[in-house]
Formats: sequence, C-alpha cells, structure tokens
Amino acid sequence: MSFTSIKIIAVLTIAFLWISCKHDPAFQPTPEPVVVDTLCDPNEVYFQNDVLPILISNCTQSGCHNEQDQAEDIVLTSYDQLAASMPDFQDKNWNKNELIEVLVDSDPEDRMPLDAPPLPTAQIDLLKRWIEQGAKNSECNENSTGNCDTTSVKFSTFVQPLIQQRCLGCHNGNNPQGGVSLNTYAAVQTSALNGKLYGSLIAASNWMPKGGQRLNDCNLAKVKKWINDGAKND
Ligand code: HEC
Repeated sequence: MSFTSIKIIAVLTIAFLWISCKHDPAFQPTPEPVVVDTLCDPNEVYFQNDVLPILISNCTQSGCHNEQDQAEDIVLTSYDQLAASMPDFQDKNWNKNELIEVLVDSDPEDRMPLDAPPLPTAQIDLLKRWIEQGAKNSECNENSTGNCDTTSVKFSTFVQPLIQQRCLGCHNGNNPQGGVSLNTYAAVQTSALNGKLYGSLIAASNWMPKGGQRLNDCNLAKVKKWINDGAKND
C-alpha cells in the first residue's frame, strides 16, 4: 500500500471516529415530509400513513413510549423502534402478538392505552389488517392522484375522524397534552377559530401531530378550507 493511500485511510478513519462520537443525547430526529411514489391503494394498510399515527397519538404521550421516557423499555415512535420493542409484532396469532394483545387485554389494569378507554375496534382492526398484510414499513402518497377535493369538507366526515386518528390520544381526557383538549366539537372549534389548530399543523418545527409525520398537503388544505368556511359543526 502506498504512503498516500495510508494517509487517506488515516484521515477517513479519524473523520469517521470524530463524526460518530459527536452525538448529542438530546438530539431528536425531526421527521420530514417525504415524497413517496406509491399511490395509496385503498385495500392496503400502510405503516407510515395509517399505523404510525395511531401509535404516536395513543402511545407516545409524556411518561409513555417515546424516546425520552421509554416506559417498560418500549418505544413506539418509528417502525424500527416498534420492531426492537415488540419483536413479535408481525405474528398473526393475536395471542402471541404483544402489540394486539395489550390493546384487547380484558384486565383494564393491563390494557393499553393505560388509564384511557380502549382503542376503537376500527383502529384495532386496521392494525390487524396491516399485520395480516405482512406488517411492513410501508408508505404511500395520498396526494398524487392530483385532485385534492376540498369542495365539501365537513366536521363529521373529515375533521373529526382526522383528529380521532392523529390527535386524540394526546389531546383527550382530564389532563390533555399542552392543556389543549380536542375531544368535543366546541373545543376543536375554539382552537380552530383562534388560529392555534392550523398554526400547530404548519409550524416549522415541533408541528402537530407531535413527533409524527406532518399532515399531507391535501389534508392541510382541507383543514384550512373547513376553518375558512367558519369551522362549522356540519
Ligand atoms: C404524541 C402526543 C401529541 C399528538 C399526537 C398531538 N399533540 Fe398537539 N400537543 C402535544 C403537546 C405535548 C403539546 C404542548 C406543546 C409541546 O410540547 O409541543 C401540544 C400542543 C398542541 C396545541 C397548542 C399549540 C399552541 O400554540 O399552544 C395544539 C393546537 C395542538 N397540540 C393540536 C394538535 C393537533 C391538531 C393534533 C393532531 C393533528 C395534535 N396536536 C397531535 C402533544 C400531541
């Protein structure tokens, strides 16, 4: 080996060591919106689009399964963390699948989310379908049909289900996160009309849903339209 190549290897090794040692324990990767080519197939359940929002919203509140608190050594803020925390998450035998098992446990002391009502059956069924389809780290593009229909955006058929899926896990109950409750129409209307609801979705950093993927452009446009039309209970 020539002297030059030894020098290059030495420099690269030092650079590598320097970079790999420079980690800040408080560092939190900020999920950036990513453009995905795959169109959403209505028969498929996608991890990033459908499953992760449920986990983030219901399981990662402070004190629970987020990167800082790691309750019971379980972190549910990403696919890799889920796989590391619950190695049997792909098992289609529901009694052996910890993820499903804790959601349907008949003992309220053991059932997740702790001290909260059980997840709606529709959400548990969605998780089961995702597992039946292989429990992959999948993602689809909800925008790429090109036609985002904002003509009739209603509270009952759009805003409420969206909040239920993406926000309520943290903004529900007697002690909602950030002191913001979103569990009634009136509460959502208040934060819609004072600008905080939309503002929280488009914030440059620390947007809502906290720790999760930003809502896609189409959903943002729909929320904005509903607010601009008066945030009605329709
Ligand atoms: C994983 C928990 C979590 C989820 C999910 C979540 N939030 Fe929050 N939210 C918080 C916390 C915690 C705060 C307090 C501020 C902070 O710590 O960033 C907050 C604050 C807010 C605020 C107040 C911001 C302000 O300016 O005062 C609004 C509005 C809000 N959230 C709306 C939403 C909406 C809408 C969703 C769903 C799209 C959502 N949140 C999902 C945890 C969450």
